[in-house]
Amino acid sequence: MPELEQALAEVAAEMAERTDRGDVATYIPQLGKVDPQKFGIAAVTNDGRVLMAGDADQAFSIQSISKVFTLTLALGNVGDALWQRVGREPSGNPFNSIVQLEHENGIPRNPFINAGAIVVSDILLAGHQPREAIGEILRFIQFLADDETIVIDREVAASERATGYRNFALANYMKSFGNLNHAPELALGVYFHHCAIAMSCRQLALAGRFLANGGKNPATGHSVVSAERARRIGAMMLTCGHYDGSGDFAFRVGIPGKSGVGGGILGIVPGVASLAVWSPGLNANGNSKLGSIALEKLARMMNWSIFAP
Ligand code: DON
Repeated sequence: MPELEQALAEVAAEMAERTDRGDVATYIPQLGKVDPQKFGIAAVTNDGRVLMAGDADQAFSIQSISKVFTLTLALGNVGDALWQRVGREPSGNPFNSIVQLEHENGIPRNPFINAGAIVVSDILLAGHQPREAIGEILRFIQFLADDETIVIDREVAASERATGYRNFALANYMKSFGNLNHAPELALGVYFHHCAIAMSCRQLALAGRFLANGGKNPATGHSVVSAERARRIGAMMLTCGHYDGSGDFAFRVGIPGKSGVGGGILGIVPGVASLAVWSPGLNANGNSKLGSIALEKLARMMNWSIFAP
């Protein structure tokens, strides 16, 4: 088995050469401006190493990866009652699909599709103004990464709000079933802003490290969530973290992962490391094309899989 540092460098060098990089998302106009040649990868091991290759220190829009952190926070606030308003099944549909909501009475399939994450935002709004809820999410992520420089990209948030007709439709539709407690535009305000948080691969891998270490920050030993909750969040990532591509990601990579339409993926190797990769070009399911390939290669090189003996 190669050293992890060398494996990251090899994967980054190989990805830099590739010309089949997928297409950057343009439905959020601000994301369409990102250079598709970028590639970064970072690993934070439970024994405290922070290793990187490529553009791992450049911030990008984390988009749906933020849903891992909002789910974690909302479970902390309301516990398992959350599952009365959001399901735990893969949707088998694109991340912004509306079709299942009618048959399933406005209860989204899982917390990672847009509809589910909007309900989670609504839960985080309880007792708060949107500004406070957004601040709470940002501070939680800063705390997890131990980095107060992490910010929200206001231009991305504004770009999403200006063009987010689908998300407005999802929120209004769920409101009609009584599955939002606040006005749709308030829940969406929280949602658009947490999706617009900008982080580097390094910051993201640091923020995810509690999930690789049984719910505890390996650097401080402080508990973020219980070991059981960390396992369950990992199960949601494995089954639902890549939308309609979740089965393929589990098949090819074999670890829990959460993608974002900004081209990032957070990957968790339980007991070993938290990984983050970024390549802005997406595949047909809206997941980072080279990011998925890079994690597949890295996992194979390191013999990492939750299914390995
Ligand atoms: O609501 C949206 O469409 C985006 N803010 C997030 C979607 C996303 O990241 C899907 N990921 N692959």
